[in-house]
Amino acid sequence: MTGPACQARAIREKPSSYDTGYGMETKADLTSEPIWQQIKTYYETTGKNLVIKDLFANDPQRFKKFSLKLSTPENGDILFDYSKNRIDDEALRLLFQLAKDRKVAEARDAMFSGQKINFTENRAVLHIALRNRSNTPILVDGKDVMPDVNAVLEHMKQFTNSVLSGQWRGYSGKQITDVVNIGIGGSDLGPLMVTEALKPYSKGLRLHFVSNIDGTHLAETLNKVDPETVLFIIASKTFTTQETITNATSAKEWFLGYAKDQAAVAKHFVALSTNEPKVKEFGIDPANMFGFWDWVGGRYSLWSAIGLSISLSIGFENFHQLLEGAHYLDKHFQTAPLEQNIPVILALLGIWYSNFGGSETHALLPYDQYLHRFAAYFQQGDMESNGKYVTRNGRVANYSTGPIVWGEPGTNGQHAFYQLIHQGTRLIPCDFIAPVQSHNPIGNSLHHKILLANFLAQTEALAMGKTTEQATAELEKQGLKGEALQKILPHKVFQGNRPTNSIVVKKITPFTLGVLIATYEQKIFTQGVIWDINSFDQWGVELGKQLAKAIEPELQDNNPVSTHDSSTNGLINFIKASR
Ligand code: F6P
Repeated sequence: MTGPACQARAIREKPSSYDTGYGMETKADLTSEPIWQQIKTYYETTGKNLVIKDLFANDPQRFKKFSLKLSTPENGDILFDYSKNRIDDEALRLLFQLAKDRKVAEARDAMFSGQKINFTENRAVLHIALRNRSNTPILVDGKDVMPDVNAVLEHMKQFTNSVLSGQWRGYSGKQITDVVNIGIGGSDLGPLMVTEALKPYSKGLRLHFVSNIDGTHLAETLNKVDPETVLFIIASKTFTTQETITNATSAKEWFLGYAKDQAAVAKHFVALSTNEPKVKEFGIDPANMFGFWDWVGGRYSLWSAIGLSISLSIGFENFHQLLEGAHYLDKHFQTAPLEQNIPVILALLGIWYSNFGGSETHALLPYDQYLHRFAAYFQQGDMESNGKYVTRNGRVANYSTGPIVWGEPGTNGQHAFYQLIHQGTRLIPCDFIAPVQSHNPIGNSLHHKILLANFLAQTEALAMGKTTEQATAELEKQGLKGEALQKILPHKVFQGNRPTNSIVVKKITPFTLGVLIATYEQKIFTQGVIWDINSFDQWGVELGKQLAKAIEPELQDNNPVSTHDSSTNGLINFIKASR
């Protein structure tokens, strides 16, 4: 055999120096894929000239065509409107082809079947198993993980019920009133975001979160709690994270200062971890440890034992509903055709804007005060997952990968940074998230009506803008004319054509929140597959940790240092001289 067929076979058979984890041959470089070139050409010739306002004017069916509804069993419909984007049929056709050519479905199936797609750590990626409420077997190294998942859930349920019922008592016999979760990154952000988002479901315990190594965080929290009624949850996958272990050690010292009895620790400290020896070494009884596994990534761990603080806050049944919601979305992600697959569409739109339109960031804008940590949570979720410049085949990507994710709840953001989104020089795609019903319908829902009116107005304004003619008419109505009018006119014009997605849920419930979080997780996964990066490691955070460990001993004395670059030496020596 000669020619291209032989070459293709040779490429497939060539032993690979790494494991793609997909059971597939090495992918072609993204930018050399024919479909990539086709999208680029289409963007240059047509895509960049698409005007959202015109697209609506030319197609009365646009909303119907470019929106999807998920009907949940008990939590109402979830509407996903992506019609206010700079896309047309052809752009979407090409983008879906990109997803097919980059084997998104195959990669997804590899993840769901327990393949070790996190190949740099030789791990499966199975946060989806933690919420697999259908209990279909998922095998890792030939062993079904579901019995272990269910056993930990049962442990969490019993513990939650025992604390909430008052059966679990502190060392002096009092009930637990406060829970302090000590963790950082994925062992903090998820539980914090969810307990805030689901506050209306609170069962009465006061939740606190300590993450920062800055002693202020712990000190301020300890000021608020009583050693006789506080429960510390030490949340750390590795149980070696410097911030968490330092905070946990100080919390234990503080506690023992009151309890004066090592045996009391068992009633006030529990651990969430994969590392039993380290948990024991810290002095926590393994009976008070809730385990999980190396195939749970830190930023995907709120569904695991790391969610214990969530369960204590809202009760196990509601925690279970959160898992059910995420599982519902997982099934949608697994079974819906790519063209009707919400996470896939979100991913492709992001790629359209960042790789072809040059956008650098993505804003998450929830119109719900309870979701005030949602964007912060997905800063880690997205940026730690897809902030990579090395592709799975070890090359440097010659295209941009993960966007800068940011956002604040509406309407606060409107009075802060929306100016730049409306009239700035950058393209900032935004996702708006809003619940139809409020948990707090104050003033006969007046607050919520105003909130929703603002959400709707913002997406309309961003898309449609205000023309010169409209601005002129408004200024004339105010009595301006001639030179005075011309002078102010350009400042009053809005170009519009700013793209947005709108996700509207009936109410933020545990179930719908589960759907929302899983939607973004699977969006991130899809983008990682297309960009050919490993979304599940985080080597990029290691160097800073290593250097901090080297610098810490240098801060012990006041002798000047000269072993670093002159800036670092200068900073260290200034600190030494100033304390
Ligand atoms: O910041 C790096 C990181 O490893 C995150 O991925 C993780 O969520 C966080 O640190 C905390 O890790 P651990 O749960 O092991 O303490």
